[in-house]
This record gives sequence, structure tokens and C-alpha cells, in this order.
Amino acid sequence: MSKKRYLVTAALPYANGPLHIGHLAGAYLPADIFVRYLRLMGKDVVFVCGSDEHGAAITVKARKEETTPRAVVDKYHAMLRDTFQKIGISFDIYHRTTEPIHHQTSQDFFRKLNENQEFLEETTEQYYDETVGQFLADRYIVGTCPVCANPDAYGDQCEKCGSTLSPTDLIHPHSMLSGSVPVKRPTKHWFLRLDQHEAWLREWINTGIADGIQLHNPADWKNHVIGQCNSWLDQGLQPRAMTRDLDWGVDVPQEIPGSEGKKLYVWLDAPIGYISATKQWALDKGKDWEPYWKSDETALVHFIGKDNIVFHCLIFPAILKAHGGFILPENVPANQFLNLEGRKLSTSKNWAVWVHEYCEEFAGQEDVLRFNMIKKMPEQSDSEFTWKGFQETNNNELVNNLANFVNRVLVLSHKYYAGVVPRIEPEITFNSGWETAKTGQYNEELNLLYDKLQEMGAAIERYELREALRILMEISSAGNALLQFNEPWKTVKEAPEMVKVVMNLAIQYVAVLSVAIRPFLPFAADRLRKMLNLNPLQDNGDLLEILNELVEGNPVIPAQHALNEPEHLFSRIPDEVIEKQIAKLAATEQQNQPQSDSSSATSYQPLKEMIQFDDFAKLDLRTGTILTAEKVDKSKKLLKLSVDLGFETRTILSGIAEYFTPEQVVGQQVVIVANLAPRVMMGTESQGMILMAEDAEGKLSFVSPAAAWPNGMGVK
Ligand code: MF3
Ligand code: ZN
Repeated sequence: MSKKRYLVTAALPYANGPLHIGHLAGAYLPADIFVRYLRLMGKDVVFVCGSDEHGAAITVKARKEETTPRAVVDKYHAMLRDTFQKIGISFDIYHRTTEPIHHQTSQDFFRKLNENQEFLEETTEQYYDETVGQFLADRYIVGTCPVCANPDAYGDQCEKCGSTLSPTDLIHPHSMLSGSVPVKRPTKHWFLRLDQHEAWLREWINTGIADGIQLHNPADWKNHVIGQCNSWLDQGLQPRAMTRDLDWGVDVPQEIPGSEGKKLYVWLDAPIGYISATKQWALDKGKDWEPYWKSDETALVHFIGKDNIVFHCLIFPAILKAHGGFILPENVPANQFLNLEGRKLSTSKNWAVWVHEYCEEFAGQEDVLRFNMIKKMPEQSDSEFTWKGFQETNNNELVNNLANFVNRVLVLSHKYYAGVVPRIEPEITFNSGWETAKTGQYNEELNLLYDKLQEMGAAIERYELREALRILMEISSAGNALLQFNEPWKTVKEAPEMVKVVMNLAIQYVAVLSVAIRPFLPFAADRLRKMLNLNPLQDNGDLLEILNELVEGNPVIPAQHALNEPEHLFSRIPDEVIEKQIAKLAATEQQNQPQSDSSSATSYQPLKEMIQFDDFAKLDLRTGTILTAEKVDKSKKLLKLSVDLGFETRTILSGIAEYFTPEQVVGQQVVIVANLAPRVMMGTESQGMILMAEDAEGKLSFVSPAAAWPNGMGVK
């Protein structure tokens, strides 16, 4: 933390839907914790975000809701802004990319890149939907992912495997607008010469060096972030179109020839949104925005989810460099994905916990969600949220550990000392609450608190927020242990002076916690300050101040200070509340089940890529009869079959056990792929594959000759 100032960004969410817990855990909460911590340390920090209001994400939604893009962004921008505020994400500004200042800033960028000859102007063949008369880029076009075969991949990205795509990569592309199969038509666009930026990006990503200057230490970046960048770099960077044929977005500057009907690519304008937001913030506060973006004494940190890595680590840095005069990000601590009750979060399937709904149903318990999200934060790998886990975390940690400690300290202080912090003789020793120390000594224990807070801060600075939270909770546990090991309720009569020291120290713990929990549990911090009758936090050096006291072995709350009455900091969440949430998800699941009534449309698997006759001729398909069948130990799906091919008998493992019992299949005529390379499964070699027909719900049916047929015959 050696930089003079910080500019922290969180990915601009598309204003096309509400916020769910995956967004929160991915980008906004980690950013908020980091920023709140920096503020507590007295750092100069600006935290910017806003709604991403352009792109197909918006216009496709407008079509779906049968309204205008403007109406969509107005509605969801307001909703996102309010939700962020309710859950305590403390942006310095929450801006919008439809603001004029943003359009101007983005156009200025485009002009500069154009002047700097960073673009290739090229006419290429692009997909065009003839039924609606529109070119189909990005999310206007869907098809099968060439990497993972996901049939719903977008023209810019596959959300299943995270691959970045272009429309021409899609297998069986079709229009998102009309469903029709697009044709190709020529159109002119401005392509950023990413190929020319490849070399320096590779060096910068892997060494932290750009233009010969060591900007950051790559060891501070997450492995998965660097890994994703390198896998992109290894494929070679291609020129990438920075314009689109659309009618919603930022206009290509008018004076540029050929600009008519052309808009900026949303991934060009959106990250520039960080800059325009900073400008607006500076205007509002009477400050200068430029040092935040142009001084090498500024650390720029982008908080994002993993699907945004290439845009923030390669493309936007290339844009900044191509423009010139801007700093590069110091770190991009991207998170992986959060799953919900065993499944990927999905907006379209409504498989989500919506933050605005949570804030309504759990009003006053915003911190409980935050705490859970931090505990489950997908920092290095995907993680999972469950409602049971949510309840347990609340009851075991927030209530039994933290709230219980605070409550005991305040209740006992009122009982023994009428709520006034007792004067003490600090040389009297007691039993320490820390495992590492046996005998406690007042000033040393304050030093220990200092060490713990330092450890916690260091973890936040490394973006290890789960670890930081663990350390924070250790302080609360040690506070509980301090009471437990000295049992003031038993010793207050016989050793009143010792109990005063213990209680005074316990009050110091609570006072320290009232500051240290702030980044994680901002609302609880406010409540705690009130209970302690301390000033509200200034979010400007409060932690630094107490660190300065603790390192000297000084208390942070003086003797004779009068405390207020205790209130419950957190309360237990009963089973009914959790059951209600689980039932809500179960109802969603029900709705998502494919309907079997004839009114609902069947969903068809998209066709696979075209093959040639020679490819087909390679398959050796034969008739056969199942002679024996048995279940495979420890496998729900597999049956072990012996199949008579006339000239020989094969052992074949087949994934049909969920649909057929062994008795049902003996004697069944089948068609098998007879020249498939053998494969060992569950310890048995499978020598071929049985052909099965599968319906939309995954039910299976045998494929066999229509009449009784000899075994071992070819099928063509
Ligand atoms: N709206 C994008 C998304 O939700 C994120 C944009 S981040 C920015 O994936 F950098 F472009 F702003
Ligand atoms: Zn994919």
C-alpha cells in the first residue's frame, strides 16, 4: 500500500435486470470491503461504478419487454442504484453510460485512437438478419459454442465455458431478434490493432513491466487471472472491431467519414465509463479527475467477475495505452463464480437470490448477506451459496460468536460498573484469551490486538477477503475466550481489581471491533458505535488512529467513558425463514421443468457441425442382441451388458440404468457402434456403444431393426 491515491472500479452492470448474489460476491462486495478499508486507513480513494446502458444486452431486453431501450435503462438503473445503496456498497459515484459527459468522453477517446492510427478501417462480411434488417454482432446472435458445445453461446462470449467468441465462430448461428438464420453482408468497421499490442501486453501481464518500468509485481495477481490472459495471448490477438451497426449506443464522431449509422462497440465505451464517472465525481466535488487516471502515484484496481477478465486485462489496457497518458491497472482481482444450491446462477431461469428481494424480506439484516457472501467468496475457485449455510453462518458466527461477545461485555459492564469503563491497574495479570499467550498483561494484549489488525489489513491488501474475515472473527473469539478463562461472574467478588482489568480490556476489544468490522459489516458497525456511545465513524483514518494507540499499548476507549445500553447486534434466523426461501427456489425449479403437455414447445438439440460422407463411412454399426445385463457397483447410470454380435460377444457398459432394469433389456435387439475404441469405466472395459434415441427430457429408447434380424449385420 505504497501508492498515494487509489482509484477503485467495480464492473459496470448492464442495466437490463436486477442484481443477484453472484454479482455481489463477484465484484461489488470485494470492491466495497477494499475501499472501506482504505478509507479507514486514511487513504485518498475514489470508488466509481455505474450502469452499463448500451449494447445488445439492453436492446434485446427492450424487445423482450416490448419497450424502448431508454425505458429499460431508466428502470433498471434506478433499481440497481437503490439496491447497491441498501446493501451498503459505498460508491463515491454511481454513474450511467447514457450521460452526455460519457458520450463525449468516449467519442474523444475514439478520435484520439483514430488520430493515433490505432484503427484499421475494413469492410468485412458480417451476419445480417434479413427479416429485421439488422447486422448481428455480439449478443444479437446465438449458436453453439465451438469450444464446449453449449447451444446458447452468444456472438461475443460463451457464458458456459467463458470463451470469448466472434459471431463467425458459432456453429449454427441464428438471430436473437427473429430466430432466423442470418446471411452474410459486407459492412465497414474500425478495428483496433490488438495484434500490435500483443507483445507489450504479454510482457506486462507476466512481468508487470511496461515501457521498461516495473509497474506491479505479477506475483500479486491471481493465478487464474494471469492464466486466462495467457491463454488468450497464446492464441494471438487479432484486430477487433470497435464499432457496430446499431441505433442504440454512442455515435462514432460525426466528422469521421463513414460514421453514419455506426455506434461504438459497447466494450469500448463501457470501461471508458470508469473515466467519465470519475470526471463527474470530480465535477461534483470540485476536484481534479486527472491525477486519478494519469499519475503514476495512483493505483488503479478493477474488481470484476471472471467473465470480464480479457476486457480489463488486455483490451482496455490496450485502449488506454493506444490513447496515451493513462496509467494501467495495478491489479485486477477477478473472482470466479458463485453457485446457488448446486447450480449455476441464471437470470433467465430465475435461479438466483435477488438482492433487492433479500433487502425487503431481510430488512435490517443486510450485513448477514454480506457476511455470507464474504465467507463464500469465489476468490480462487467457484463456490456455493446455500440457505442452510446462510442460517448456520448467521447463528454460529454472527450470533454465537460476535453478537454474544458484544452483549456479554455490555451487560456485565452495566451490571458491575453501571456502564462506565472501569479505571484499572494495568500491571495486574489475568488469563489471556489468546492461545499463544497464557498470562495476560493489559498493554501487551493491546499490542496483540494491533498485530491481529495488521494481519487482517495485510490480507485485505492481498485481496484475500475470506482470510481477512477469518482473522477478524478470531478477535471476537479471543474476546469470548478472555471472558471464559477469567469468569468475571465468579471472580468479581474475590478479585475485583483483576476483573476490572479483564472487563476494561474486553471493552477495548469491542471498541476495536466497532471499527474493524466496518468494511465487512458496515451497518453493524454503526449500531455498535451507538451502543458504545462512541462517535460515528468518519471513514477517514479511523482504523489508523486506533492502530496508533494500540501499538503503544494504549486503550482506545478511556476509563470513565459511559456506555449505552446493549442491543442485539445480530439475532438468530429460525428454520421457518430458511424453509420459505428454499420453497421459493423449489417453485422456480418446478417452473423450469420442461412441460410435458402438448401446448409447450419441445426444445430441439441444435444440429452438430456438418460432416462428409467419409466421416460417416468410418462408423461400423452392427446389429446385436443383449444376452445378459447387470447393475454396476457404485454407479447409478451404468448397466454392464453382454451383447451377441453373431461372430463374437462384447461387453458393453451403457448409461441406461436410470431408465431400464437389467430384466427389461435382456433379449432386446440393438444397434451398436462396433469399431469404437474400447474404454475402461468403473474398472471394466467397454467394447462398443449402444445407439439410443433420447427425448427432450432425457428419456431413452432403444434403436433397433424394425423386424427380428440376425446379429452382426451392418447398419448403413
Ligand atoms: N456490463 C458488463 C457485464 O455485465 C461489464 C462492463 S464492465 C466495464 O458483463 F468495464 F465495461 F465497465
Ligand atoms: Zn463454451
